Amino acid sequence: MYNKEDKILIIGSGGQIGIELAQELSLLYSSENVVVADLKPIIALPNNPFEQLDVLNKDALFAIVKKHNIKQIYLLAALLSATGEQNPMFAWKLNMEGLFNVLDLAKEKHITKVYWPSSIAVFGPTTPRINTPQFTVMEPSTVYGISKQAGERWCEWYFRKHNVDVRSLRYPGLIGWKSAPGGGTTDYAVHIFHEAIKNKKYECFLSANTALPMMHMEDAIRATIEIMHSPAENIKIRGSYNLAGISFTPDQIASEIRKHIPEFGISYKRDFRQEIADSWPQSILDDEAKKDWNWSMKYDLSSLVENMLVNLA
Ligand code: NAD
Ligand code: SER
Repeated sequence: MYNKEDKILIIGSGGQIGIELAQELSLLYSSENVVVADLKPIIALPNNPFEQLDVLNKDALFAIVKKHNIKQIYLLAALLSATGEQNPMFAWKLNMEGLFNVLDLAKEKHITKVYWPSSIAVFGPTTPRINTPQFTVMEPSTVYGISKQAGERWCEWYFRKHNVDVRSLRYPGLIGWKSAPGGGTTDYAVHIFHEAIKNKKYECFLSANTALPMMHMEDAIRATIEIMHSPAENIKIRGSYNLAGISFTPDQIASEIRKHIPEFGISYKRDFRQEIADSWPQSILDDEAKKDWNWSMKYDLSSLVENMLVNLA
């Protein structure tokens, strides 16, 4: 089903997703075959070949692809929703030009497959917010969301016009214990565990009843690997697939944490991220992912909370 000898490049491997994705892909392809690239060295991945790379430097990217005979690229370098709003022009540049640099390598047949993540941020305030379907109104209101929506359209265009085998998932907020989040609106759902264990209290930057779709990192990594290893003819959507995840509010996750740490307390002080969260769906439908490549999620809220607390303790 897949060639274990393929050389893979993960760009942005030092981030929240990259570290865990590199570890899992290394189990499938071996560490030597998974080259990890980022702006700075990555302490957490000592066994993988490392390349210092700014993805905006197209020549340097090409040189790395040639040097290692790379066949597949996972492109994770991006500014996320909160940092993107603080630096909108740079977010647009990084999120779009990085993607073009990689898609062009595939168009020119230097590589055979591309993975690029999208996000629930492609939806906006005019999208139906409950059980958001795959195909619906999409008017994102953040620079990050606009760049993800444009990225999805470009991926689909490169597939149609140039037969580029690009695959993508609209991740919900991702929650894992192995790495820290990098500037998103859903970051509270990771920080809350660290603070619950260390200080038994947390001040949340979203209001108590802000429901958002979230997912355990293990499920997200498995989804990424499964979509990348599915037969090409099963991938009917070349923009990006919805992934539902679990929907909960800060109040609900705090109650679940209290089942393990009864003295845990949460307080609320909203900041600019509230407006971003209010523009996103509260829950998502992922029927197409289930139908096309047999997706099924493992973690619910209670098993996610238990897993996070056990591993961080
Ligand atoms: P992150 O911020 O934790 O990691 C991004 C990594 O990219 C960092 O290590 C950073 O150093 C690196 N990077 C930044 N600029 C670079 C450049 N010019 N060249 C090379 N590397 C560079 O982000 P993440 O949470 O791991 O997200 C990865 C991808 O997944 C992004 O595209 C993001 O939009 C998407 N995504 C993440 C989530 C989530 O909840 N974490 C949800 C939806 C989508
Ligand atoms: N978790 C991401 C963020 O909050 C969504 O893509 O930015």
